[in-house]
Amino acid sequence: MVIVMAPEATQDDVDAIVELVGTAGGEAFVSRGVSRTIIGLVGDIEQFSSLNLGGMRGVADVMRVSTPYKLVSRDNHPERSTVWVGGVPIGPGYMTLIAGPCAVETPEQTLKAARMAKAAGASLLRGGAFKPRTSPYAFQGLGEQGLQILAEVRAETGLPVVTEVVDAHDVELVASYADMLQVGTRNAQNFALLQAVGAAGKPVLLKRGMSSTIEEWLMAAEYIAQRGNLDIVLCERGIRTFEKATRNTLDVSAVPVAQRLSHLPVVIDPSHSGGRRDLVLPLTRAAIAAGADGVIVDVHPNPEQALVDGPQALVEEDVAELARVVREFPPLLGRTLT
Ligand code: E4P
Ligand code: PEP
Repeated sequence: MVIVMAPEATQDDVDAIVELVGTAGGEAFVSRGVSRTIIGLVGDIEQFSSLNLGGMRGVADVMRVSTPYKLVSRDNHPERSTVWVGGVPIGPGYMTLIAGPCAVETPEQTLKAARMAKAAGASLLRGGAFKPRTSPYAFQGLGEQGLQILAEVRAETGLPVVTEVVDAHDVELVASYADMLQVGTRNAQNFALLQAVGAAGKPVLLKRGMSSTIEEWLMAAEYIAQRGNLDIVLCERGIRTFEKATRNTLDVSAVPVAQRLSHLPVVIDPSHSGGRRDLVLPLTRAAIAAGADGVIVDVHPNPEQALVDGPQALVEEDVAELARVVREFPPLLGRTLT
């Protein structure tokens, strides 16, 4: 941690800080410049954080040098991690395609969508039984009935299931059906939910909050990790910007940035970011080229009748092209489609 003193700070101000840091078991190294004094702190950063150093007289700024997240940081874990979901790897060297309907609507629709996903090369099935909707009047998902449909479709197709949980009270129920728990963008800073999924003993797909910085996203992952679960996959799904042509703006740069800061795998969601079917394949290509470890895509046998997000779902005709993209691009980058 580094403290930058204001130009008008006095020697007494500096001494007060050195003394306080000492009482917290740390050491303070004072460096005097022409117009500013800088104090470097060595010791327990969490302890320093509780000292309210920023509020002390003469302090202009307090800056952290080390990352505030530890368990998910690459500093403490230089090797990038691979997360296994029902025997399917997500991580360096692999390209994992997760596909399926946005929402589970009926057994027939889910099975058809799962077959489309498999035909495209998907090794994991996505599908929401609990849907986080903007409007309380919109379709909220089939709940446990949807989870049962997903389990049946998994038995039929062999695809392990990734599904969202929106409420901490439902974690045990969803975990009893799912192979991987998804935390969506709207709940990316629901800390009670993050802690509950962290304790559930299942891999977690953590979407980036639509207004979260990368640091906030990694802090959210830290909540899960802190409960003993490091099987976390980060998912960039687009952020809110001023641009209205797309539903959200896919932050492609988040892929290499998050991979540099954290050892966790990073996948992207081109469906919820663009919000438009015609953008899914270009964004998929962009994400693979940027080094994403996987892609999660919405597909639907009949999108005009979809109860959620029909405009962004790939249809039957798109599946061949999606299959071509995920088969042909990853080998160029030294990756194997799982
Ligand atoms: C789908 O997965 C989400 O539930 C959906 O994107 C929510 O958006 P909306 O409720 O604003 O339509
Ligand atoms: C989803 O994938 O079903 C979903 C709701 O996505 P997001 O949280 O990214 O909006």
